[in-house]
Amino acid sequence: MNAQTVSIELKERSYPISIGAALFDDPLSYAALAPASSALIVSNTTVAPLYADRLAKALQGRYARIHQVILPDGEEFKTWETVNLIFDALLQHGCDRKTVLFALGGGVVGDMTGFAAASYMRGVPFVQIPTTLLAQVDSSVGGKTGINHPLGKNMIGAFYQPLQVVCDLDTLKTLPARELSAGLAEVIKYGPIADMTFFDWIEVNLDALLARDPAALAHAVRRCCEIKAHVVAQDERESGLRAILNFGHTFGHAIEAGLGYGQWLHGEAVGCGMVMAACLSERLGLVNAALVQRLKALIQKAGLPVIAPQLSPTDNAGRYLELMRLDKKALGGDIRFVVIDGPARASMRGAPDALVREVIDACCLRL
Ligand code: NAD
Ligand code: GLY
Repeated sequence: MNAQTVSIELKERSYPISIGAALFDDPLSYAALAPASSALIVSNTTVAPLYADRLAKALQGRYARIHQVILPDGEEFKTWETVNLIFDALLQHGCDRKTVLFALGGGVVGDMTGFAAASYMRGVPFVQIPTTLLAQVDSSVGGKTGINHPLGKNMIGAFYQPLQVVCDLDTLKTLPARELSAGLAEVIKYGPIADMTFFDWIEVNLDALLARDPAALAHAVRRCCEIKAHVVAQDERESGLRAILNFGHTFGHAIEAGLGYGQWLHGEAVGCGMVMAACLSERLGLVNAALVQRLKALIQKAGLPVIAPQLSPTDNAGRYLELMRLDKKALGGDIRFVVIDGPARASMRGAPDALVREVIDACCLRL
């Protein structure tokens, strides 16, 4: 399979996203990087044993010193303490301003490595090598980096673009099935917000995607990256349009924080959150029930939960609302939701608490 390239156009911060097989351990994938004396590979305890040495070998001719830092694995470790391990490694190895960080892993490793790169010496270069479907179709692209706070998801961070993104589809062969499904949530997301032809394609090709058919995965990753690149190029820092990429995330982040990070996978929470956001869109009179049902059916078929969890035994909807008021899109305590207001069209708006409570009640599992 030939590698394909999607470009993300951000003037002097533009960069290529390479998509294909046998890419991450090919020295040619990094041929365009400027010379530097050292590199730091950042990975975790699951991904490093699989791929870190192969990456180090591919980088050998390019950097005199290649260091590795291996982080604990899990959303619950997306914290200050873990980012500090990256700073510790950078300082202990005497890394300078040209040291290149290589984020080898899923979205958690990518978000933390990007944040460390944005902060170390006020900014050093970094490369994203996403090894989950979710990271290949979403988190490695667009420059959102950061960590969680116990009170809110991804609350501390920076916009900081990588030098390049290398999506090696071969790495998806070792991904657990549950993680593949989680990634499909973000793939499905691009349909209702941007491209219903792609949504139709996912419906037809879902079994091939679940079976990790290389051609199907290549098409999905490329189309998602194209859509994301197009959105980010217009609104890099989310002053408006980029918020559509957060479809399902307001409810989803409440699920993740409310249950405790790591209980539901991010993609699972987003999948269920999209069902909730679609229900809200329907109750606001923006879309018909048929589209909501189609979306719900696809999310379920992808192996994702569609019934939302209880977050409180006493005032469940109240707890959701409390958590959602901490969402980054909220203004002055007013929650703003990404809703679909037609096929392949999304926008951001508020909704009366009473209506949101109805949606939560309707979507939650009753004990
Ligand atoms: P993750 O990084 O936790 O990876 C999922 C699991 O798969 C981990 O256990 C990981 O070690 C393992 N893994 C990774 N690659 C593997 C491989 N090839 N083979 C075997 N195991 C592998 O989770 P994720 O779903 O990749 O990312 C979720 C994170 O991304 C969340 O923190 C979310 O907030 C963030 N995110 C960020 C953005 C953004 O724009 N920056 C967008 C979406 C999501
Ligand atoms: N994942 C949402 C964004 O990058 O904006």
